[in-house]
Amino acid sequence: MIYAANFKTNHTRTTTRAYIEALSEKLVKKKVEDRVFVFPPLTALDRFEGDFTIGTQNAYPTQNGAYTGEIGLEQLNEFDITTILIGHSERREHMHEDQQTVAKKYHFFMEQGFEIIYCIGEPLEVRESGDDAVAKYLLAQFKGIDLSYEKVIVAYEPIWAIGTGRSATVEEIASTHAMLKSNMDRPLLYGGSVKPANIKEITAIDGVDGVLVGSASLDVESFSQMIFC
Ligand code: PGA
Repeated sequence: MIYAANFKTNHTRTTTRAYIEALSEKLVKKKVEDRVFVFPPLTALDRFEGDFTIGTQNAYPTQNGAYTGEIGLEQLNEFDITTILIGHSERREHMHEDQQTVAKKYHFFMEQGFEIIYCIGEPLEVRESGDDAVAKYLLAQFKGIDLSYEKVIVAYEPIWAIGTGRSATVEEIASTHAMLKSNMDRPLLYGGSVKPANIKEITAIDGVDGVLVGSASLDVESFSQMIFC
């Protein structure tokens, strides 16, 4: 299983360090086949030792340059960061990243050999329009995305389940993952209100290779409870 923690705009440099130290101690008992990722805010990126991978929540597709407010490869290289989250619905929505922008970023970081967690997900009105509408919407988010890349992990995160406390049902996750798996051959995470109370039933679903967790990952006890569920 893959367990990924997305801190979003939470935690500081100091609290991230304390979190990682606590997590590191717990991960001594981790199953070798499990993988753990942590995506702290950009200001907390650093070199951390342990049985986990630190990734960046975002970066601009450039080595360096005049992109005010962004970071590029030069800043990531300083900390040996080679993992990135791309396509998260919050960036698509709040930062207006359209599919073309997302695909360009994907292509750039693929060329750099980064491991990519590529996020897709539908809004509520699409989910309410039925399975065909969901499939059409999600598959459109693969436009310009090379899924033959061996270092991509896809994360399915229905927008209406993110940060709402309302996870998709087991049936919704199972059928959507089956549809996605019939269109690609990469590890597939589920994200959207994953928490200690539902981790077991979610990771037991066929076609779920792991989880991407926001709110319930912010507390190290809660995140590790999920890893060791
Ligand atoms: P959530 O966020 O766990 O708070 O729903 C998940 C995500 O956006 O990755």
